[in-house]
Amino acid sequence: MADVQPGQRVLVHAAAGGVGHLAVQIAKARGAHVIGTASVGKHNLLHDLGIDEAVDYRSEAFEKVIEPVDLVLDLIGGEVAVRSLAILHPEGRLICMPSAAAAAAVAAAADRGLRATGMIVEPDGVGLESLSALVDDRRLRVLVAETFPLERASHAHRAGEFGHTTGKLVLTV
Ligand SMILES: NC(=O)c1ccc[n+]([C@@H]2O[C@H](COP(=O)([O-])OP(=O)(O)OC[C@H]3O[C@@H](n4cnc5c(N)ncnc54)[C@H](OP(=O)(O)O)[C@@H]3O)[C@@H](O)[C@H]2O)c1
Repeated sequence: MADVQPGQRVLVHAAAGGVGHLAVQIAKARGAHVIGTASVGKHNLLHDLGIDEAVDYRSEAFEKVIEPVDLVLDLIGGEVAVRSLAILHPEGRLICMPSAAAAAAVAAAADRGLRATGMIVEPDGVGLESLSALVDDRRLRVLVAETFPLERASHAHRAGEFGHTTGKLVLTV
């Protein structure tokens, strides 16, 4: 959806999370310059994943230290989405993943003449094939934070709602 091109500057919020750590690697595989926000304890991990710049969102206002970007992949929503518009290139795009936050982000972008959109992930066999190829090439790896049997699904939900996962939470069926 973002159609990331080589050399583009891409900002991924929550870059060490379940979606973010994959987005970082996919954008790198497409030749982008990738910047990610995460608390400082996760920066080494992000560098291992190939990120170009890691920004500690807790100690500094990300929009003050990041140069303009072509794409923001917003995995937080709310004021993070709105603040991101300050560093979005006029021709750039913000993609807001938390569904409940997307409408406000799209409206805030429209007020400034910028492009923003929400999205809902859908089953995509062709996309999965290209991701498999990246895995085979060792350019994409999936970090697993924790694995839960299905009967402990409520524990998995609680872990996710905490909001500080590194990588994916997995349910085994
Ligand atoms: N629309 C769709 O189809 C779709 C699909 C998948 C996911 N989503 C949504 O996308 C969002 C992200 O999902 P996820 O599974 O990647 O979440 P997640 O794994 O729970 O994200 C956790 C990460 O968020 C980081 N984080 C928390 N607050 C932050 C902030 N203010 N700035 C930067 N990073 C922050 C944490 O880093 P620290 O520990 O360093 O704080 C942690 O690594 C969720 O809202 C989810 O519902 C939507």
